[in-house]
Amino acid sequence: MLNRFLVLIVCLWGSTAVAQTAIIKAGRLVDVENGQVLQDRFILVEDGLIQQIGSGQEVEAAQKTEPVSYLDLSKYTVLPGLSDSHVHLSADANAHGYRRLTISTPRAAINGVANARKTIMAGFTTVRNLGAGGFVDVDLMNAIDDGTVPGPRIIPAGRSIGITGGHCDTNLLPFEYHKTAGGVADGPWAVRAKVRENIKYGAKVIKFCGTGGVLSKGTKIGAQQFSFEEMKALVDEAHLLGLKVAVHAHGEDGINTALRAGVDSVEHASLISDQGLRTARGNGTYLSMDIYVSDYILGEGEAAGILEESLAKERIVGQRQRERFQAAVKARVKLAFGTDAGVYPHGNNARQFAYMVEWGMTPMQAIQASTIVNAELFGLSDTIGSLTTGKMADIIAVAEDPTQNIRTLEDVVFVMKDGKVVLPIADD
Ligand code: ARG
Repeated sequence: MLNRFLVLIVCLWGSTAVAQTAIIKAGRLVDVENGQVLQDRFILVEDGLIQQIGSGQEVEAAQKTEPVSYLDLSKYTVLPGLSDSHVHLSADANAHGYRRLTISTPRAAINGVANARKTIMAGFTTVRNLGAGGFVDVDLMNAIDDGTVPGPRIIPAGRSIGITGGHCDTNLLPFEYHKTAGGVADGPWAVRAKVRENIKYGAKVIKFCGTGGVLSKGTKIGAQQFSFEEMKALVDEAHLLGLKVAVHAHGEDGINTALRAGVDSVEHASLISDQGLRTARGNGTYLSMDIYVSDYILGEGEAAGILEESLAKERIVGQRQRERFQAAVKARVKLAFGTDAGVYPHGNNARQFAYMVEWGMTPMQAIQASTIVNAELFGLSDTIGSLTTGKMADIIAVAEDPTQNIRTLEDVVFVMKDGKVVLPIADD
């Protein structure tokens, strides 16, 4: 343990230095583009990029400089860095309900630093942060990108946009406190202005609430939030400015209206109808269904401060969402890997893989959701999502073949991001 810790310090220290050149020897390598597990592959990493993948000789021939390090992962399975399309890095699983009111914005930022570290150590090298107060996620992204703190590549949403009193508002305090969340906007022009403001302060994706939610006080999961006009204006404005849009939506009406308004992904999608599945498939809209989190909410939620009314909503929505996930797999809708980490503890993101397999995906499909499919949703297909020459060297390793035992992804033993080792192999 001490040894591992020392190696880690050295590597993190070294991570601010010039990019490393390395040759990785992979016992098995998951080729997510072709859906295959390959044996004995070598990866040449230079200038933070994957320069070559092939046999030992091929890689040696392609090598321009002496490798500074030789990483023997011949006992392991190597995969592209995982990604999660729905996290809240500044939120903590032990501060639900009224406890959330005790967390200041600076404290949320500090928690975000700790959670970013847990996330990358679990093998998640890219995340979309779908909502944070005070643009904490934008600053976290910048601090990670300039090497101040370790963490995944972040696509931040900044403030989630929503109606007065909706899931993206704060409804915990009585009237005389006049508390309104920063992302609240009513009316087509007000939502356009909010999109512009979010972009001004660094948002790279737009998130809005299209229905009520489980964890918000006084909202109905089945009730649509925002009219079609408002959704259309919001999506149009975001697209004009070159950003994608993710909608929080559980109920059928909100989902259908958001699909019609042209959103890029539907988060949760719990009660999506067969018609909704057909529309999503036809339009190429992604569903990001967080089918693990229900176990945490119903198992540990009460102790974590979740309101009784939220537990009651989860009892209705949790099982149904898994059934609809299964229907979505059958309907061949594009399925992202999104978990809502922050509702449950960060670093446990990979627990969702086994649920996705239990509810109808092959292990390879679940891995693809978290790599190549998410990369496409993020608009980053050219740079991340697979172990391909020219892409970023975001590389992880696990002990077993995940297509044989998907739960091996819950125990990542090696992480490299942008060609820099963040988590070295323990016995290196
Ligand atoms: N943030 C979501 C909400 O409050 C969590 C939903 C979790 N439940 C679920 N079955 N996915 O609505």
